[in-house]
Amino acid sequence: MKIFALLSLVSRVTAIWPAPQSFSNGSSAVWLAEDFLVTYNNHNLHKRTEETRSTRISSLEIVQAAVDRARKSIFTESFVPWKFYPRNEIDKFEPPANGKSKTYIRQLEITQTTPDNSATFKPLAGQVDETYNLTIGADGVASITAVSSTGVLHALETFKQLFYLHSVSGTAGVYCNLAPVNIRDGPKFGHRGVNLDVARNWFPKETILRTIDALSWNKFNRFHIHMTDAQSWPIDIPALPELSKKGAYQTGLSYTPQDIEDIQVYGIYRGVEVIIEIDIPGHTTAIGFSHPELITAFREKLWHNYCGEPPCGQLKLNSTAVYDFITQLFDDLLPRVSPYSAYFHTGGDEIDARDYVLDETVKSNDTAVLTPLIQKFIDHSHDLVRKAGLAPIVWEEMLLDWNLKLGDDVVVQTWINSASLDKVTARGHKALFGSNDFWYLACGHGQWFNFNDDTFAAHYPFNDFCSPLKNWRLMYSYDPTANLSAKQAALVLGGEVHLFTERSDPSNLDAIMWPRTGAAGEVMWSGRQDSSGKNRGQVDAARRLSDMRERMVIRGVKCEPIQMAYCTQYDGDCTW
Ligand SMILES: *[C@@H]1O[C@H](CO)[C@@H](O)[C@H](O)[C@H]1NC(C)=O
Ligand SMILES: *[C@@H]1O[C@H](CO)[C@@H](O)[C@H](O)[C@H]1NC(C)=O
Ligand SMILES: *[C@@H]1O[C@H](CO)[C@@H](O)[C@H](O)[C@H]1NC(C)=O
Ligand SMILES: *[C@@H]1O[C@H](CO)[C@@H](O)[C@H](O)[C@H]1NC(C)=O
Ligand SMILES: *[C@@H]1O[C@H](CO)[C@@H](O)[C@H](O)[C@H]1NC(C)=O
Repeated sequence: MKIFALLSLVSRVTAIWPAPQSFSNGSSAVWLAEDFLVTYNNHNLHKRTEETRSTRISSLEIVQAAVDRARKSIFTESFVPWKFYPRNEIDKFEPPANGKSKTYIRQLEITQTTPDNSATFKPLAGQVDETYNLTIGADGVASITAVSSTGVLHALETFKQLFYLHSVSGTAGVYCNLAPVNIRDGPKFGHRGVNLDVARNWFPKETILRTIDALSWNKFNRFHIHMTDAQSWPIDIPALPELSKKGAYQTGLSYTPQDIEDIQVYGIYRGVEVIIEIDIPGHTTAIGFSHPELITAFREKLWHNYCGEPPCGQLKLNSTAVYDFITQLFDDLLPRVSPYSAYFHTGGDEIDARDYVLDETVKSNDTAVLTPLIQKFIDHSHDLVRKAGLAPIVWEEMLLDWNLKLGDDVVVQTWINSASLDKVTARGHKALFGSNDFWYLACGHGQWFNFNDDTFAAHYPFNDFCSPLKNWRLMYSYDPTANLSAKQAALVLGGEVHLFTERSDPSNLDAIMWPRTGAAGEVMWSGRQDSSGKNRGQVDAARRLSDMRERMVIRGVKCEPIQMAYCTQYDGDCTW
């Protein structure tokens, strides 16, 4: 019993998610004055109206917008934390509502110690110093220091999480009862991302933007959009308008160049770099709706013989027309992407050799024939990526299955299982982790095929390939670099959580993604181990993640609950 009591005490110290690298608190209450002044270096950031906002990429605009969001969030989206205290006892933990000598925070002083540079808003992994310090004195003096504006953004997310709504005072009363608070913080990994497949189901721009918001609250800094796949082509390419006109699920269900720019800029304003993937040469069936001549094994009826999932189809491998197509596509898209991103993902997963037997430009499935052709194709694609000033990312098969020679600038993204990271880094390549044994959000939702009388019995009870569901506790237990040498670990830029969307669309996106993805976010920001080297525990994490979940729900992201309210009220009772 004593241990549980101690743990529950410890767990109440902070509800910050992801956990800061260093945190200390007192137990004084400070209230936030509604008209609190924010200074940013020598600027006063007053409360602004909607109309005066800009989307120019400048440190001042970005910080000012983040301060606007923080004000709104704290005063209109804070919650009374009744779920986190024994029932009907919250008043014992809250500061008195009408104390005569309430201490107010009247000013938040933000100091950015070095100016941002051209890499700040489209960094390679590790190029931006994201660290920050945050202090709130018992006297109400509050300050943030950070090296970059990105660090300021993270600090403001933490700041928002320090306040609760008072059960009696109502909206006028938001308090922090942990002063003095001292936080020193910074991320373990420089690339902390989510990969969302927007090709298997259609996701309107608003859904994408909401997801970027949620990522920024959890201190993610990358949003990888798996833009195209076999099933649909939801992006307009002005040089090739027929692609989305015929390849989107419905004409109009596609992102315009303006949408793409809006999404990227929206991300930059939140410290989230948007990385676009056009998956080639496999997973390209959707191109065949407008350009059947470029695709081999297009919608082959006996799909088992040509791909892992229908519809089959790959770009032909030794075709001048395909090369011209890629050049046209990339020369249109990449210069529009590169002002706002350092990376471009060229895919490269699950190339099915069998398709090339049907490809009249190849007529072979022989690895010895195919490998040089794939090498040439990737070299061509990556030259175009580099010409646009971008660094290529590829899926692991390019290196591990096809043994291609990839440039030193190429980042290899693993997905097949957690052992792939060892293999990629052993070969000296920069790598991203996140695999279907820990971080695939789609797992466990069951099969999407329809089984007929012949196949019903063999597939009963219709589990999907990576069942069971990866619950947040499992995702939180993933220690990606655990088995790597120091030399290998140094090549790991970070990782991504994956959502391939055969079974999801905007209706269930939030619940599938959150708060589980937050658990992965803490692994990437705080690290699997705490500062004493111990693996972070679920008891502490559950309460903090539940607190974060409440904040996300109020802000409009419909996260699942992680426990019964009983467990957060009496958290010792729910420990096994
Ligand atoms: C930090 O906060 C917790 C939870 O409110 C409290 O129990 C603890 O006493 C605080 N620490 C100090 C040094 O006041
Ligand atoms: C945060 O505080 C530590 C310790 O005082 C200091 O070394 C570090 O430079 C500070 N970081 C920032 C971003 O101000
Ligand atoms: C690729 O196409 C060229 C030109 O048609 C042809 O000469 C060559 O044999 C083809 N290569 C393979 C491996 O089929
Ligand atoms: C190519 O196809 C033949 C005939 O189906 C098969 O025996 C062989 O294993 C295949 N080779 C590869 C590399 O897939
Ligand atoms: C590391 O090795 C242990 C022991 O073999 C294994 O259980 C664990 O899954 C491995 N972790 C990763 C991330 O590969």
